[in-house]
Formats: sequence, C-alpha cells, structure tokens
Amino acid sequence: DHKESYAAWLQYKKIEDFSLLENYQKWFENLASLADSVVIESAKKELLLGLSSMLGVQPTFSTERKAAAGIVLGTSVSIANQIEIDFEQLNDDGYVIKTVTTEEKSTIFLLGKEDTGVLYAAFHLLRLMQNRESMDHLDILENPKNQLRMINHWDNMDGSIERGYAGNSIFYSGNKFNDELNRIEDYARLLSSVGINGVSINNVNVHKVETDLITSSLLPKVAEVAAIFRAYGIKTFLSVNYASTIEIGNLETADPLDTGVQEWWKNKAKEIYRYIPDFGGFIVKADSEHRPGPFTYNRNHADGANMLATALEPFGGLVVWRCFVYNCLQDWRDRSTDRARAAYDHFKPLDGQFHPNVILQIKNGPMDFQVREAVSPLFGAMEQTNQMMEFQITQEYTGQQRHLCYLVPQWKEILDFDTFAKGEGSPVKNIVDGSLFQSRHSGIAAVSNIGNDYNWTGHTLAQANLYGFGRLTWNPDLSSETITNEWTLQTFGKDELVVQQVSQMLLDSWRIYENYTSPLGVGWMVNPSHHYGPNVDGYEYSVWGTYHFADYQGIGVDRTVKAGTGYTAQYFKENADRYEALETCPDELLLFFHHVPYTHRLKSGETVIQHIYNTHFEGVQQAEELTERWTLLEGKIDQERYEDILKRLQEQANHSKEWRDIINTYFYRKSGINDEKYRTIY
Ligand code: GCU
Repeated sequence: DHKESYAAWLQYKKIEDFSLLENYQKWFENLASLADSVVIESAKKELLLGLSSMLGVQPTFSTERKAAAGIVLGTSVSIANQIEIDFEQLNDDGYVIKTVTTEEKSTIFLLGKEDTGVLYAAFHLLRLMQNRESMDHLDILENPKNQLRMINHWDNMDGSIERGYAGNSIFYSGNKFNDELNRIEDYARLLSSVGINGVSINNVNVHKVETDLITSSLLPKVAEVAAIFRAYGIKTFLSVNYASTIEIGNLETADPLDTGVQEWWKNKAKEIYRYIPDFGGFIVKADSEHRPGPFTYNRNHADGANMLATALEPFGGLVVWRCFVYNCLQDWRDRSTDRARAAYDHFKPLDGQFHPNVILQIKNGPMDFQVREAVSPLFGAMEQTNQMMEFQITQEYTGQQRHLCYLVPQWKEILDFDTFAKGEGSPVKNIVDGSLFQSRHSGIAAVSNIGNDYNWTGHTLAQANLYGFGRLTWNPDLSSETITNEWTLQTFGKDELVVQQVSQMLLDSWRIYENYTSPLGVGWMVNPSHHYGPNVDGYEYSVWGTYHFADYQGIGVDRTVKAGTGYTAQYFKENADRYEALETCPDELLLFFHHVPYTHRLKSGETVIQHIYNTHFEGVQQAEELTERWTLLEGKIDQERYEDILKRLQEQANHSKEWRDIINTYFYRKSGINDEKYRTIY
C-alpha cells in the first residue's frame, strides 16, 4: 500500500515504450564491479532494483568486464588503465559516466574517485532512465560543489519531532530507538540519490534522554543506524548537550577551559569512535534559547567550540557550532536591541579564533526562517572561519506542509545573493562552498521535513523540497526549473501536462504563500509557539525580539544606521547602502529595513496599504487556482496521490482566506484607509 507515495522520486516505473525498453535492456546483460565495499554493494542493489523494476531484467554480476555490452563500476584504484579518465578532475565525491563503444564491446562506465562516487553515478544513471534519456553517448563528469551536504533532524527520542509536520520520528519512539530500522535504509536511499552525505539524527535542543546518546547505553544503537547510513555514503552526526559533563559526566562544571572538562570530552570522543569509526561529529546549539553554553563561565563561543574540536580532532570529527544566538528574553518596549543583529554581533569579533575543524552553521536569515527575510550578513564577514548554511526544509513558517510552498527558488535567491565580501561577484554560494576564502570545511545543512507518514513529508508535493535541497546543494547552479522538472518527471512519470502543470505550481507557490501571508518582508504575524496561521500581534508584545511595530500610521522595523538599530551596517558597503536608503531598498524587504507610513509609495507604484490589500486578495485567488490547476491532472496520476494532494490544496485555499481576512482587517482598522477597489474587508 501507499507504494507510489512511499517511493517518492525513486519510482522506477516499468518502461512501456518498446523501442526505448529494448535500447536500455541491451546494456544490462552484465554488470561488472571492479571494486567492492558496502557502498558499492548499495550501488549494485539499487541498480538491480531499478533495472528489474523499470526494464524487467536481472543482470548477471561479475568482477570483470564480460558481455558484449554492459555496465562497469569502478574507482580510480580499481579501474587501472581500462579507460582513459583523468581522475584528477574529480573531487572526493565526484564521478564520471561514460559510454565507450568499440568494435568488440560497448560499455557504460560508472566511475568514482571513491566508492561514494560510484554510488552517485548509479543513482544518476537510474535518474537518466527515469527521465527517458538516451544512454548511447553518455559523457558526464560531476563534482559536488559543496563538501558537506547535510540534513539535520530535530527528532526527539519520545518520537516527537520539533517542527515536524509529517508524523513522528522514523528513528525513535517511547524514548528508545525503534526496533524496526528498515525504513531508515529507504530514507538513506532517498538522501543518497540526491547526494546528501551527512545526517544528524537528534534535535539541536538536546533534552534529558537524548543527552545519553553519547553514552554506552545508546551508542550501540547509534552505531547500527550509522551503519545503515554508511552504506549510502552518509556520515552520522549527533547533536550534543553542551553541559554533558554536568548532566552525565559527574563533573560540576562545563567550563571549556577546565582541564577536567577537556579530558572528559577527549575520552568521550575516543569512546564514540570506538563504536563509530567514521563518526561525523557534533552539532551544538549553545547559549541559545535557554540551552547551556560557555557564557555561564564567562567564556565565548570560540572557547566552547574549540574545546570540543580538540577532542574530535584526532579522529577527524567536526564541530558544527550554530550561530542562532540572540536574546530571547527581550523587553518589547526596548527598541535599541535588534535580534537581527545578534549573530553578527556575537560571532564576527571571533573571526580567526576557531579551530580548523569547527564550522559555524548560520541560518539563511538573521531572524528565523521567515517567508522572506534578508540574507544573514554573517556570510562572508568571517574570512578566517569555516562557515556553512542552515536552511529549513521543514515548513515551520511556510505552511507546515499543509500549504504548498516550494522553497528551491527561495534558497537559490539566497545562494546567489552577492555579499560583496571580496568585491562584486562574492555570492553566498561561493562562501558556503569554501571557494571564496579557501575554507577547509564548508557546506549546506537543512532541517529535515520528513517523518513516519506513509509519504514521508505529509504533503506529497513537499517531497520536492527534500529532493530540491539535495540537488541544489550538490550544484547551486542548477536552475529551479531543471530541478523541478526532474523531480516531477521522476515522481509522477513522463506526461507532458503533468510535468508542465506540477512544475509550474511548485515554482509559483512561494510567491503565492507570501502574497496571502506576510507582506514586504515583515514576518512573524503568526500564532505564537506552534506558528501556524495568522495572528498579527501574536509576537508583538513578547520576549522574542520579533516585532513589526505596526501602529495607526505605519509599519516596519527601522534597521537603518541613520535612525534605527544600525543593522544595515553589518553588510558590505554596496548592500549596506542599498538597504539603508528608502529609495534603493527593494520592495520585498522594505518593512524588514524601514518603518514607513501606510501611504508610502512602493517602487511598484502602489502604496504600502494598497499592496497589503492587493496581495492578500490576489494570494487567495492564486491559492484557489492551485486547486483548479491540480484537478486538470485527474486520471493522469494515481488516485491516492491525486486525492491526497487535492485535499491539502483545498485546505490551503480555505486557510488562505483566514490569512487574507485577518491581515486585511487588522490593517484596515489600524490605518482607517479604504481599499481602492472596495472589496470586502471586515
Ligand atoms: C526556531 C524554532 C525552534 C528551534 C530553533 C532553533 O526558533 O522555532 O523550534 O529550536 O529555531 O533553530 O534552534
């Protein structure tokens, strides 16, 4: 049951086109594997699964080239001189797919520098077949642009998932690891197929039970999970409790400069690596939202991170230290404190002080995964420090997988954002891929959107966000359209109308969501704590530093140097100037940077208030149209997924009206300004 939903983009549907089938089949009489390892085993297993299912063939396996036509898997070491390939062109996870036809033999080589490359090549070949591309003249060379391509789980051991919208954890329930770990293998396949190579398996908020994950009581289980991921080229990481020395170590302190604390972590690292020799390292949320950290001992983040890094260093482990640090007990009356400034203010002065195996993980924006916010000014601001990106695939503020909101276009915008860190042409993607500053470690991480729902992601179309994240992280230069088309084709099959409609629905969806929710970069107009649904003042008088300052005259946060919090100065000059001046600040971020009267005229020509009304009416209409666009596909998609998705789209259309009316009514009552078109506002 739920076969299609569960298989996500690895459908491997039988190929019906006879001539294509015949053409493909000829390649798969024999599969020769010149290398052998658990990772190569996974490649073979996946090929076997895909081939038997798509082509109905069962190739024979051998350890050398055999049949007249066949596939050869190998690595730089094992391939010797059977084919001329310059392996120097490949990085550690890179691969080549090449069709070589001579008089005696026709071969498709799947060659990696290492075993993982072979696995990625196998997935790539299967993807080509799913997309019905010819294999007769393949000549592909792929290198992932980012070194670390990582998923962060916010799973708790009681089975709940913080900000999870697709059921419970696939790892845990009842404060234990699940007995049944099968599903993790299917998950690993999905991740590996899009090039993910790291996964942290527990929430960054490390509560009591999870603190024990690094003890001998749970490490054997962690090791079992790590073995499943290892076979798919994925390293396992754990989120750790900064105060572990106190919680489980019988020490009285977690002071990073205390030798007892340092010793404890060194021994702990040794112990962990006994269980998991290729353990990835620690994710740390410290001094953030009431989590413990070095501040308690008057030490800074570098002291804390370096202490852990020293312990992991002998084993090649990494410390991923999060920069989500801000005052979460603010007084709403205090206008001088600006949460957006916090990460930069805390971390920028520490540039150059972090050990080489520490990476700072920075959320894409300075606030918290809003529908739209500015790009964090910390990117590029620390030339001598490893930095990586943190995105959120789980749709906390973007409809919680009940609304369609495809995030690839948002992520692309952020990755393409020019920081000017080294002058023009210093986009974020070149900072997080390590190339701009030649960083030792770098990459992109994102918070997972999957759970134990039969379709993994609640909203079946939200599978596209996981797929897109992986593909984009592998290569940030892929266009949204390419990624979206690929995903749709693999997920729903090759049907012109389906591909065209679904792709376009996805590509339009972020803008639509933005239209009926938060105008002009303002953010935070949501119900407190669970963050679903509209509530304009939900966070206005709270401690969280999340304000829009709407009154009867105007709205927005003044973050200028001239009259506001001075946040704009955290950017390099070109961006600082652009955001500082009302005339040059882009409309979509206007209220993020400026407080303006409702009558302020945007570059679009509309006033702010009219923009709010217009976008909210338009957004609802667009949400309704999404439903109609979907119904065009009835009969072209299996009934289960068709109806599932239809239900979600209908809920979205309905709920968008709630958003429209609450937002419009609020601002109409505050401002007293009529809608120029006199539509219904309550
Ligand atoms: C957000 C989110 C929390 C999460 C935090 C974090 O505030 O709502 O659930 O713990 O981010 O990233 O640490």
